[in-house]
Amino acid sequence: MLESVKQSIKTNTRKLYIESYGCAMNFSDSEIIASIMGEHGFETAQDAAEADVIFLNTCAIRDNAEQRIRERLKHLRGNKKRNKHLIIGVLGCMAERLKEKLLEEEQLVDVVAGPDSYRDLPALVAEVDDGGRAMNVLLSREETYGDVNPVRLNSNGVNAFISIMRGCDNMCSFCVVPFTRGRERSRDPESIVKEAQNLQYQGYKEIILLGQNVDSYLWFGGGPKKEFKRLSVEEQDRSIDFADLLKLTALSVPGMRIRYSTSHPRDISEKVVLMMAQYKNICNYIHLPVQSGNSRVLEAMNRNYTREYYMDKLRMIRRILPDCGISCDIIAGFSTETETEHQDTLSLMEWSQFEFCYMYKYSERPGTPAAKKLPDTIQESVKGRRLQEIIDLQNQISRNKHSAMIGKTAIVLIESKSKKSDADWMGRNEQNNVTVFPCGDYKKGDFVEVLIEKSTTTTLIGKAIGYASL
Ligand code: SAH
Ligand code: SF4
Ligand code: F3S
Repeated sequence: MLESVKQSIKTNTRKLYIESYGCAMNFSDSEIIASIMGEHGFETAQDAAEADVIFLNTCAIRDNAEQRIRERLKHLRGNKKRNKHLIIGVLGCMAERLKEKLLEEEQLVDVVAGPDSYRDLPALVAEVDDGGRAMNVLLSREETYGDVNPVRLNSNGVNAFISIMRGCDNMCSFCVVPFTRGRERSRDPESIVKEAQNLQYQGYKEIILLGQNVDSYLWFGGGPKKEFKRLSVEEQDRSIDFADLLKLTALSVPGMRIRYSTSHPRDISEKVVLMMAQYKNICNYIHLPVQSGNSRVLEAMNRNYTREYYMDKLRMIRRILPDCGISCDIIAGFSTETETEHQDTLSLMEWSQFEFCYMYKYSERPGTPAAKKLPDTIQESVKGRRLQEIIDLQNQISRNKHSAMIGKTAIVLIESKSKKSDADWMGRNEQNNVTVFPCGDYKKGDFVEVLIEKSTTTTLIGKAIGYASL
C-alpha cells in the first residue's frame, strides 16, 4: 500500500467499541468484526465513552438475554445525547431474529447486522455517515470468515477461540439458533490450522475450537454442507471430519492445549474419543449437553437421542478416557414436562456426575417449533423450583467431586490473577476445573503441577509443586 494512503487511513482512525453477549461463538465473532473494521480504519477502544461507533453483539437464546440488550440500549441514550455523531449498531443473533423490527422499536439504533453480514459492516457504517440507517440480515450458506485474521479482544494472551464452523442444521424444538445463525457450514481446515499456528507463534498456550455441533464438522472442499454419503468418491477421499481435524490440529501445534465445544450426544463418535486418547495435547474434557433426563421430553425437544443412548455415550467416553471431565447444559421446565419427568433429569445428573452444568429455565422463543406446537404451560414458579432443585443437586455433586481431588495433583495452565487476590494465580486443569494457588515465581502461560489442599463448589485450591509439561 502507498505510504500516503496508509497515513490517511491512520489519521482517519475512528474508535470502535464492541460489547459481546451470549455464547463463545459470539465472542469469537466480535474478534472477526474487530478485524474487518480494523481494515477500514476503525481502532477498537476499551471504553464506550471514547467510541465513535458502538456495536452490541447480541444473543437471542432466552428472553432475558434480549431484555438485557434493551436495558443496555436505554442506557446508551445518554451517550447519544452527549455525542450526536455516535453510531450504534446491534449485531448478532437478536439483530437477525428481529430484523427491521429492531429499527422500528429502538430509535437510537443506526445499524442492524446479522451474523453472516459482517463483511458489509464498513459499508453499513458509511451509509449511516451519509445520513441513513442501515441493515443487512442476509444469511449465507457459505460464509465462514475463514480468511479473516481475528483481532484478539480482552485477551489474556493464554487461550483463544477458533471458530471451525457456523450455523446449525439441527432443529431442537426450543432453540432459536438455526434461525439466527442459518445453515451449518464448515471452515477450511487449512485456515484453522494456520490460525492455531499463528496463535502459538504469538505465545498462546490453549485453543478452543468452536461450533454449535462440532461432531458434524465435515470439509470436502468448500460450499454448503452435504451429508458424507452424498459426496462424490473424490470428495469422500479428501474429506476431513472432526476427528481428522482434531488430529491435524494436535500435530500442528504440539505443546499447545486443545479444547473444543459443543459436542452433540447423538453425533459424538468413538473415533473422536479415540483421537483424544491418542494425542496428549487434546484435553480430556467434553461439553456434552443433555438438556433433559427423560426420553419423552428429549423427543419433544427433537434432540434425536434417548436417556439410555446418552448413558451409553457416557459409558463409551469413560471406557476410553476414564478421567475425562464432562460438563452439561440442562433446561428446567420445558413445555409439558411432568414432575416425574423432572425427577428423571435429577436421577440422570446423579448417575452422570458432571463436572459442571449450565442450568436454565425454559424460555419460549417465538417462531421455534416448540413455540408453534407445544405452548409453554409450565408456571414460572414451578420452573423456578425445578431449576433450584437441579442447581442444588449439581452444587452437591461439584462439591463432592472437588473434595475428592484433595491430596491429588493437577496440571494447571495459568491464565490470570485470581479474582479474589493478586497474590494467587487462576488456571484450569485438563478437566476444566478452576484452580487457584499462590503465585510464587510462576508466570502467566506456565504449565504447573499443583497439589490440591482445599476445595469449594466452584474451585480447587492448592500449592504449586513444580513446572509441568502438558
Ligand atoms: N449447540 C449447543 C447449545 C447452544 S445454546 C447444543 O446443542 O448443546 C446453549 C444452551 O442454551 C443449550 O444447550 C440449552 O441448554 C440452552 N437453551 C437453548 N434454548 C433455550 C431456551 N429456549 N430456553 C432455555 N434454555 C435454552
Ligand atoms: Fe440449538 Fe440444537 Fe443447534 Fe444446539 S444443536 S444450537 S440446541 S438447534
Ligand atoms: Fe450464541 Fe446466543 Fe446466538 S447463545 S448462537 S449468541 S442466540
